[in-house]
Amino acid sequence: MDFKNNLNAYSPKFFFTRYYYPSYWILILTLIFLQIYLIFNTTSPSAPLSLAAASDGRQSSITVARDPCNSGRVFVYDLPPFFNKDLLQNCESLDPWTSRCDDVSNGGFGRQATELNGVVPDGLTPAWFWSEQYMLEPIMHNRILNYKCRTLDPESATAFYIPFYAGLSIGRYLWLNYTTSDRDRDSEKLIEWVQNEPYWNRSNGGDHFITLGRLTWDFKRWGNNQWGSSFAFMLGMKNVARLVVEREPSDPLDIGVPFPTGFHPRSDADVLNWQSFVRERNRTNLFCFAGGTRHEIENDFRAFLLSYCANDSGGSCRAVECNGNRCASGDSVVMETFLDSDFCLQPKGDSYSRKSVFDCMLAGSIPVIFWERTAYGQYEWFLPGEPGSYSVFIDNKEVRNGSASIKGVLEKFSGERVKMMREKVIETIPKIVYASALEGLESIEDAFDIAIHGIFERFNRRHNSASKNGS
Ligand SMILES: *[C@@H]1O[C@H](CO)[C@@H](O)[C@H](O)[C@H]1NC(C)=O
Ligand SMILES: *[C@@H]1O[C@H](CO)[C@@H](O)[C@H](O)[C@H]1NC(C)=O
Ligand SMILES: *[C@@H]1O[C@H](CO)[C@@H](O)[C@H](O)[C@H]1NC(C)=O
Ligand SMILES: *[C@@H]1O[C@H](CO)[C@@H](O)[C@H](O)[C@H]1NC(C)=O
Ligand SMILES: *[C@@H]1O[C@H](CO)[C@@H](O)[C@H](O)[C@H]1NC(C)=O
Repeated sequence: MDFKNNLNAYSPKFFFTRYYYPSYWILILTLIFLQIYLIFNTTSPSAPLSLAAASDGRQSSITVARDPCNSGRVFVYDLPPFFNKDLLQNCESLDPWTSRCDDVSNGGFGRQATELNGVVPDGLTPAWFWSEQYMLEPIMHNRILNYKCRTLDPESATAFYIPFYAGLSIGRYLWLNYTTSDRDRDSEKLIEWVQNEPYWNRSNGGDHFITLGRLTWDFKRWGNNQWGSSFAFMLGMKNVARLVVEREPSDPLDIGVPFPTGFHPRSDADVLNWQSFVRERNRTNLFCFAGGTRHEIENDFRAFLLSYCANDSGGSCRAVECNGNRCASGDSVVMETFLDSDFCLQPKGDSYSRKSVFDCMLAGSIPVIFWERTAYGQYEWFLPGEPGSYSVFIDNKEVRNGSASIKGVLEKFSGERVKMMREKVIETIPKIVYASALEGLESIEDAFDIAIHGIFERFNRRHNSASKNGS
């Protein structure tokens, strides 16, 4: 399978295309190291400089001692509770059909996953929760309030965070007979509030960012009586960066961040323990699929995969049919299935992206992608740049018309190759989890750290080019 070609097939459209080129990265990394070296050598000649990449190649995170806030500080707006805390308080009404009180508990991590006792290593159970896929907003907010590079002085801020729980808010109005003005009301209030803040006008929100715990489509209503709110299209939002669990590839303000998974490590040790657990796991199935079907969708690919798996008499495939809430909460079967499989099938769900991609990788299983937008071009700050290094791409159309056999493709990978890909997946694990340590992990960067550093870098770049143009 030629992944270069797959990449070329979709990358030209993308804002981030040039970042894929290795030479670009080598140049950037060299510059960063040079800069770090200069900073440490000029400001404190005796300071220990530790650029320690672990020599066994298993953990490639780089630890830099000293001022962790070189790249910036964030100011967090203290919004009226109407925009965030009240939503958590009124968890009974976040969803028209069911209470979300379990989901918003423990700072958005959800209920403790005691059912995973015996499935995950002893001692790690307290780091596992039943985290709901759309809980990014409270999770990020809690972390950022305790973040070491948070500043209370807006004058010294590189970035301004608006902790409006836009996804929780809109989740109440997406269905039933609510009108488009019901769906836009809170967003309009938010914009009115933030525009009256003195630091908004410096760049009309250009150094501001927000998290959107639901898909970008939920905030981009195209016409009257269509789906979603029009938050992302509102004039006041036209410069504000969005950390969002599914981005629109052509929208540079959308920055894809991982869906929250259930693992929220308390320490570096939790991450390392988990990594060695999934590395040493004996996997009995070649591939697996966990998903539900949508009977109202004609030719639903998920139904096709369930049937494909059921027909596989050789026992290479293990399927979990997710009806009702089965796969979302309280049942360890999905985690066990991923832990027991080399590959996991990840078709598009109701949207292109899937929380399941992250659950699968977390278990050290290699994702099989059928639509490029499910993973590639979505989470550039978090997933490896080369799709073929950690995933397999099989075009859904080729599966449909019989020109590609899923089992045939997967069987062709040698044991050695599978091991290499799995190692890449395992190396990625810290980048796709949200730590429960409120001040972050000791030296490992999690998804939160990466997201905030990315924001700082982007705003610094923007600021530098603006001041160049100005002088
Ligand atoms: C929606 O319909 C229900 C009755 O089915 C009614 O009680 C409610 O007020 C309506 N809501 C709106 C926003 O019109
Ligand atoms: C920011 O600019 C807007 C539009 O020019 C203005 O209405 C508002 O009063 C300004 N806010 C502050 C705090 O200066
Ligand atoms: C995996 O299988 C090998 C060989 O059968 C065995 O030596 C090893 O202990 C097993 N590892 C685990 C974690 O069960
Ligand atoms: C599985 O087998 C059934 C019965 O033979 C067949 O109708 C169906 O098309 C098969 N499914 C797939 C995905 O091949
Ligand atoms: C199957 O679909 C692929 C992708 O659309 C196409 O390139 C190929 O020619 C098709 N093959 C058959 C046998 O229809």
